[in-house]
Amino acid sequence: MINPSFPLLILLLLCLNTGLYQAYAQPVQRTVYFVQPEYLWYKGSIIYNVDIDAFKDSDGDGVGDFQGIIKKLDYLEWLGIDAIWLAPFQPSPMQDNGYDVSDYYGINPLFGDGGDFSEFMYEAEKRGIRVITDLVINHTSKEHPWFQQARRDKSSEYRDWYVWSEERPADWNKGMVFPGVQEETWTYDEKAGAYYFHRFYKFQPDLNMRNPEVRAEISRIIGYWLRMGVDGFRLDAVPFILEDPFSDLEDPEHDFGLLTDIRSLVQWRKGDAIILGEANVLPEENQKYFGDEANGMHLMFNFFANQHLFYALATTELQPLKSSLEETRDIPKVAQWAHFLRNHDELDLGRLTEEQRNKVYEAFGPNENMQLYNRGIRRRLAPMLGNRKQLEMAYSLLFSLPGTPVIRYGDEIGMGDDLSLEQREAVRTPMQWSDEKNAGFSRADSTIRPVIDSGPYAYQQVNVAAQKRDPNSLLNWTARIIRLRKENPEIGLGDWEILDVGSPDVLAIQYQGEGRSLIVLHNFSPAPKQIQLKGNFDTDEMINLLTDDEANKFKKGKRQITINGFGYQWYRIQNDE
Ligand code: NOJ
Repeated sequence: MINPSFPLLILLLLCLNTGLYQAYAQPVQRTVYFVQPEYLWYKGSIIYNVDIDAFKDSDGDGVGDFQGIIKKLDYLEWLGIDAIWLAPFQPSPMQDNGYDVSDYYGINPLFGDGGDFSEFMYEAEKRGIRVITDLVINHTSKEHPWFQQARRDKSSEYRDWYVWSEERPADWNKGMVFPGVQEETWTYDEKAGAYYFHRFYKFQPDLNMRNPEVRAEISRIIGYWLRMGVDGFRLDAVPFILEDPFSDLEDPEHDFGLLTDIRSLVQWRKGDAIILGEANVLPEENQKYFGDEANGMHLMFNFFANQHLFYALATTELQPLKSSLEETRDIPKVAQWAHFLRNHDELDLGRLTEEQRNKVYEAFGPNENMQLYNRGIRRRLAPMLGNRKQLEMAYSLLFSLPGTPVIRYGDEIGMGDDLSLEQREAVRTPMQWSDEKNAGFSRADSTIRPVIDSGPYAYQQVNVAAQKRDPNSLLNWTARIIRLRKENPEIGLGDWEILDVGSPDVLAIQYQGEGRSLIVLHNFSPAPKQIQLKGNFDTDEMINLLTDDEANKFKKGKRQITINGFGYQWYRIQNDE
């Protein structure tokens, strides 16, 4: 007996043979780049920064660890994040939050061991979450055996791994990254009988990048962690890695060839691994850091736009923010900006004019204790803004800026800061999971840093468990805005334009790409504003993506919109022609 599906099969084979199939399989005509931007995972990702020591303690010693993060991966998956950026987790005396590495190939025993790390990588991958780790190669800890040998013995092979001077250099107190806390950039070491160079704290001697042995070691470190499965690196202190310490410290020369070497190695070893660079540079320097198409960084934090964004939040004056976005627009097709609001450091306002900086201080960090290094504010975003509406507006903007959003643990619940802690420790308090002991972070009696347990940001009020239950919480709102961002991939991929909508307080950005169009509106003023969309929307319908309210569906030709104080709206432009 003939199987009834047999004739169908014959028909299908005939179609495949007769060109019918070819006719339907013709690819859609589109601009072809060497690499299709939509293939680049980092263009459509949400990155979440974790300090391991403050995230979740699994063994009750008061310090977060890898088993702790593993327990929270389901939460991160639910939140919708695509990649975790792990702060340094290698062995370290922890004088600078792990940015003082004493062994590049190990795991800080406080956080677990190699087995815990590989389990974490496995569990993250299982959930489709990528892992980026900090790569701190500008300097080591003073405790690193390389430095210990270098200082002990002038003839040691490690001596030239660091930067020395027999005499005190004329610029010994110039170019400090932490002014007010740091006193010099060249420090005398008794054991070595010489001065060593350090851009950062004196316990972080700079490596000598001009030494080929050092470069070879760095390539081994990169190769090692890629083999351990990481998907890329957040490259710490990029301009300092490239600089010549013997050139003018306030305007040093840079060797961009080293960046090209790092990029080539990373990509050669793992094709889709990325470099996310920390380089707080002026727009005219961006091109050198991104390189031409594929020889610089894939992603770079947009510090320039970040500072002007805070200025806009503080003053409602939008022009500097708009200009900063325009000035940082031109980057290679395969590159991308990483946008952020706050990170694990101070809010650096060093690129603003003094007058602008003072206005931001006045609004968000009026007390001296809130300011740091003569250039920044050491607070988390929620207490800086102090109101939910503006907080939502700021995050909605972050998730709709042209680039990849990076958020910090605790941002999603609006965590606060602890100004009684030193320097940047204020924004590194333990994650607030619940209203249980130590915010559910640890069962220990004392924790690595104290949990916030008083005031409006205390863990009893601000925690994941409570916010998960409340549909209107910031946490649930964040999960929704993350989904919305993912449903609108043209934000990371498409062309964008700042629209003039007739209100100086409203930032309007239109995205176009892949036959789609989106307009996002953000009102920086506490008062409602009316805007007018110019241009030809006569054939379009505008659909408000943040509400199901029919009244917010704008039929053809309607172009006047009122936005609430600190309001934000995302509109899909639908053309039915
Ligand atoms: C930049 C990091 O973000 C910061 O936390 C650290 O102190 C310095 N680099 C030194 O590594």
